[in-house]
Amino acid sequence: MELVLKHIEENKQNFLDELKEFIAIPSISTGEENKNEVARCANWVADHLKNIGMNNVKVFPTEGHPVVYGDWLGAPGKPTVLIYGHYDVQPVDPIDLWESPPFEATVRGDNLYARGAADDKGQVFIHFKAIEAYMKNTGSLPMNVKLMIEGEEEVGSRNLPKFLREHKDLLKADLIVVSDSSMFAKGVPSICYGLRGLSYMQIDLVGPKGDLHSGSFGGSVHNPIQALTEIVASLHDKNGKITIPGFYKDVLALTKKERDAFKKLPWNDKKYAKELGVKQLYGEKGFTTLERLWARPTLECNGIWGGFTGEGAKTVLPSKASAKISMRLVPHQKSAKIAKLFEKHIHKIAPKSVQVTVRNLHGGEAAITPIDSPGVKAAVAALEKGFNKKPLYQREGGSIPIVVDFKQILGLDTVLLGFGLPDENAHAPNEFINLDNFYGGMRTVAHLFNELPNYLKKK
Ligand code: BES
Ligand code: MN
Ligand code: MN
Repeated sequence: MELVLKHIEENKQNFLDELKEFIAIPSISTGEENKNEVARCANWVADHLKNIGMNNVKVFPTEGHPVVYGDWLGAPGKPTVLIYGHYDVQPVDPIDLWESPPFEATVRGDNLYARGAADDKGQVFIHFKAIEAYMKNTGSLPMNVKLMIEGEEEVGSRNLPKFLREHKDLLKADLIVVSDSSMFAKGVPSICYGLRGLSYMQIDLVGPKGDLHSGSFGGSVHNPIQALTEIVASLHDKNGKITIPGFYKDVLALTKKERDAFKKLPWNDKKYAKELGVKQLYGEKGFTTLERLWARPTLECNGIWGGFTGEGAKTVLPSKASAKISMRLVPHQKSAKIAKLFEKHIHKIAPKSVQVTVRNLHGGEAAITPIDSPGVKAAVAALEKGFNKKPLYQREGGSIPIVVDFKQILGLDTVLLGFGLPDENAHAPNEFINLDNFYGGMRTVAHLFNELPNYLKKK
């Protein structure tokens, strides 16, 4: 272990240089424009896995972007951990707001800034380097390790469930570890045990068959932007509750125990509001901010458009208006059912003066992972050693829908071991990973490989 930790300490700069190469490949998975770059990134990952001593490295093509696999199975009789992460990233727009180019990883202060720095290239890379530290210094790992790094997480992991079904044997393991979430705060490591699900919808409205002069026609037809905003505004009531009938029916209620646990976490609403630049927080009445973020479903309008949005003025009564609306779901809500309730409700409330189309773009399920499992206990011990601090237990508002498939298809529990930060600007300009988390993450994963065999045995 000493040699392993020394390797991490002595190679800090090398790791940054290598991560910069990984980040430099613009592996944006949405759209077709970057398909070749995504493929190039998959090959980079495969080559890197070979370099750090992984065997059976393979780039598996899918109907979308490839899945990269590699393993080291030289510890017979010891348990096997399957590490999952993603090498694809989100688009970079609005590009003007980046202080340094998104694909040129740049250190400023304690952080490394780049698209994918935290979500998820930097976090995947933490695992690569923990493995390298063992392989270079001891020629082996304390347990068997498999890695599966995909290229379609940011577009809903469309082809991954099929991949899991088709490669059950290859992916046989005792536990899954995912580093694709955040620590509670800077210097405050945490174990995440809950993720929200997602139902992503689009509403398209058509009023008159073409754009109209707003003077000649205004007053005679329902402006589709007005109709749309009336619909969208009506989806929440005065108490911040979602008005779709049946929406809350299956929601897994918070227990008193969990609410008490949330209340003990070091949280300050005023400070949080200030960090976000708002004078006042908003949300469902009767719940604290953390409850609303982690354990209550929400509905957000992600984008809304129509009519004239150029510079200056144009007096037009537009023909069309659209909105993208996503709902974050909690355990026991089913994304397909919620999508149907949404669609039915929109059609019911839409005025006859416009034509409405509702589309279900994608969805995924919420997850709760067992908190007192041997895997979580090992992760707690590893975090404590890696960061010299006892971790907290938390849930997350974001979604990693494949976690539910890991349980259903592979029968495996997942440990969510995140090294990001809540303010890391994931999906936004100036995404970063904190360097203390980057190196602390490597130490933690190195300890985890060492600890897991003890804990999993005691099952
Ligand atoms: N790493 C995130 C998920 C995440 C975000 C976990 C914040 C915990 C905290 C992941 O890459 C992501 O962005 N997921 C999407 C899922 C969607 C595309 C199905 C999300 O949450 O919007
Ligand atoms: Mn991610
Ligand atoms: Mn993401």
